[in-house]
Amino acid sequence: MAFKWKDSLTTGNTVIDNQHKELVDAANELLKACSEGKGREEIVKTGRFLLNYTKKHFGDEEKLQMKSNYPDYNNHKKLHEFFVQEVKNLVSDLETQGPNVALVGRINNLISGWFFSHISREDVKVAAHVKSNS
Ligand SMILES: [Fe+2]
Repeated sequence: MAFKWKDSLTTGNTVIDNQHKELVDAANELLKACSEGKGREEIVKTGRFLLNYTKKHFGDEEKLQMKSNYPDYNNHKKLHEFFVQEVKNLVSDLETQGPNVALVGRINNLISGWFFSHISREDVKVAAHVKSNS
């Protein structure tokens, strides 16, 4: 199992799109570590990488929004904060429980569910706004 990038997830902003793809790659590394039965330490390492990359990406996206006076900035930032907290909880649960079906299910919900919907509902609006302001 791996997350697949779909063209329908393209926002049209190259920086955002490339970072989204990187984030999907990082999530796939985590899934791979879980499914290959890697040690807990290795799994937590890939989880922390995903967490840090997520923070970096959201930070960059928020800067783009601020620079272009994106009107829904505050709400969008809250959505980002929610997701970061979820990934944090996931990593700490992986650390205490080790990989299991329920946690892999949560990774799935976070990426195929939350993240992909966030891109198509919210980030496309950001990309369109940035474009019209440049
Ligand atoms: Fe976003």
